[in-house]
Amino acid sequence: MAHETISNLLHEERRFAPPAALAAEANVKAEAYARAASDREAFWAEAADRLTWTKRWDRVLDDDNAPFFKWFVGGELNAAYNCVDRHVEAGNGDRVAIHWVGEPLEDRRDITYAQLKDEVSRAANAIEELGVERGDRVAIYMPMIPEAVVAMLACARLGAVHTVVFGGFSSDALATRIDDCQAKLVITSDGGYRRGSASALKPAVDEALIKLDNANRGLVENVLVVRRTGQDVAWNGDVDIWWHDVVDHASEIHVPQPMDAEQPLYVMYTSGTTGKPKGILHTTGGYLAQAAYTHWAQFDLKADDVYWCTADIGWVTGHSYIVYGPLANGATQVLYEGTPDSPERGRWWKIIEDHKVTKFYTAPTAIRSFMKQGSAVPDSYDLSSLRILGSVGEPINPEAYVWYRDTIGGGRTPIIDTWWQTETGATLMTPLPGVTSGKPGSAMLAVPGVDVDVVDEDGTPVGNGEGGYLVVTSPWPSMLRTLWRDDDRYVDTYWSKYAAQGYYFAGDGAKKDEDGDIWVLGRVDDVMNVSGHRLSTTEIESALVSHPRVAEAAVVGASDPDTGQAVVAYVILRESPESVEGIEKELANHVRTVIGPIAKPRDLMIVPELPKTRSGKIMRRLLRDVAEGRQVGDTTTLMDADIVSKIAAGQATST
Ligand code: WTA
Repeated sequence: MAHETISNLLHEERRFAPPAALAAEANVKAEAYARAASDREAFWAEAADRLTWTKRWDRVLDDDNAPFFKWFVGGELNAAYNCVDRHVEAGNGDRVAIHWVGEPLEDRRDITYAQLKDEVSRAANAIEELGVERGDRVAIYMPMIPEAVVAMLACARLGAVHTVVFGGFSSDALATRIDDCQAKLVITSDGGYRRGSASALKPAVDEALIKLDNANRGLVENVLVVRRTGQDVAWNGDVDIWWHDVVDHASEIHVPQPMDAEQPLYVMYTSGTTGKPKGILHTTGGYLAQAAYTHWAQFDLKADDVYWCTADIGWVTGHSYIVYGPLANGATQVLYEGTPDSPERGRWWKIIEDHKVTKFYTAPTAIRSFMKQGSAVPDSYDLSSLRILGSVGEPINPEAYVWYRDTIGGGRTPIIDTWWQTETGATLMTPLPGVTSGKPGSAMLAVPGVDVDVVDEDGTPVGNGEGGYLVVTSPWPSMLRTLWRDDDRYVDTYWSKYAAQGYYFAGDGAKKDEDGDIWVLGRVDDVMNVSGHRLSTTEIESALVSHPRVAEAAVVGASDPDTGQAVVAYVILRESPESVEGIEKELANHVRTVIGPIAKPRDLMIVPELPKTRSGKIMRRLLRDVAEGRQVGDTTTLMDADIVSKIAAGQATST
């Protein structure tokens, strides 16, 4: 698969050097690479020293039991203290931590670090009062409101492990995650504003509690509900509690407890190659050190910056680059509740103009959708405050990169194309804005202190101009520690392919160009990337097969000009297709119900058979050829060579 994609690589010659003034004053200069390479552990120890520790570590890296690595062993710190209290103690309590912008116009709140400290302390006291203790799991299912950040930090303050579930996920997906991590408390809200109206969240929590495994019934002792929209909610007095009833009356004095550097901080579920999402476990010290360092380095963070990351806190980007990285750095940032085009298309640009945003971080899928609307809308706003633009989540095509730089960045702003994963916790590859001349479409090189390579099937590094698999060749502080309650799957998924070399296998294909810079090409496994969201083909297939009319299903990710990849499903029905008119739409909506709107197939096709090898394995490669309208590849291993042409002759239904 990697080799197929490589032949499509673009010949991109444009280069954008860092602006001289930015380079001269940059937080991180070229010397950092050599310094980190000469003593990696000393480099990361220095990064960790940017945090406040109550007890210093004895050992930077413990690799005695690889791949179960530990960082800053013996050290103790509190993540919430580092993100909030210490800035107040340093005299910066009046600095705005969060410029919160609700979707309804004029619905705004500015929260200073001093106010955030009080609110996090009150929430920590309230949650503790509900019986949550160190190590307990708390599920957070919320819109983009300040209380979501407060809830995460309150958990961190107590050493409770949060698992934030994206608010766009269905009750089924929420139930699976609550079941897997056995959460004791769920924090949610009545709803949030999306596309101009109040959209409910609490009903999904109510449904999820009913859908829990029998063994876990009653596990969730309480549901803490923030009132955001004021919409009606069903109420179970035994379980449900209003946030304002308990948090508003709690004391704002709460002493943060020191946590071991390896105390679990959160579990973030992400799609893998099987139907069951993986619970990625991140711990405290190494994670916070690298999230904070990379945020400071890649955005060249300065005291007068106004930073804005458009990700949702339900994804890892929101964890590392809205909550933990920026707040540990004492940054001032915008947090926006709603959709980019509500109430009008220029909403994002209006927010940048109003708040004089200097550093902006978003995803290629958003950039492409704005590009389609043309430059007139952004051109009518004052975006001259912007200094650095970031991209994350999927490869950014050179065209979108150049549009982003010119139209949004006025041709002045370096673009940082940051490659990383839920598993990596923080950026592993990016050009640095004050050092690297950017190449449109390439994440280029590892951040200082990180070692990546592109290797062939045997683990041998490929030469310049060649492609292969992206690997990380040494451990890094913010790496996942394991999969929640599944050490075997952790070893198997990430460390077995290159066990002999001890390399982390990222699951992405990549190419080194003639200069040795790295271009990430996309997943080489059954994981799709739709609008920067990771989805597993198997997960969607399981959702389809759970419909009573479906006998079998195959799902592929086909390239899509707007969303990067799109979900295309091929389905065999139990009965003849003529008898069930409109079944395509029904099945697509079924996926939407089971997983969430992001997983709904773009196209769904009823087929008589699926292409399979003689051993019965579905050949998704051929289905991808069909979905992308290509000449169908080698069919010689197929059981029935005619089946693909039959499928290709049929018509997919856009759903
Ligand atoms: C893809 C998001 C190319 C990649 C932080 C990776 C990228 C997956 C980039 C992780 C990038 C992320 N260029 N591809 N700059 N950033 N990816 O876990 O396939 O949601 O494996 O983490 O997104 O997605 P995840």
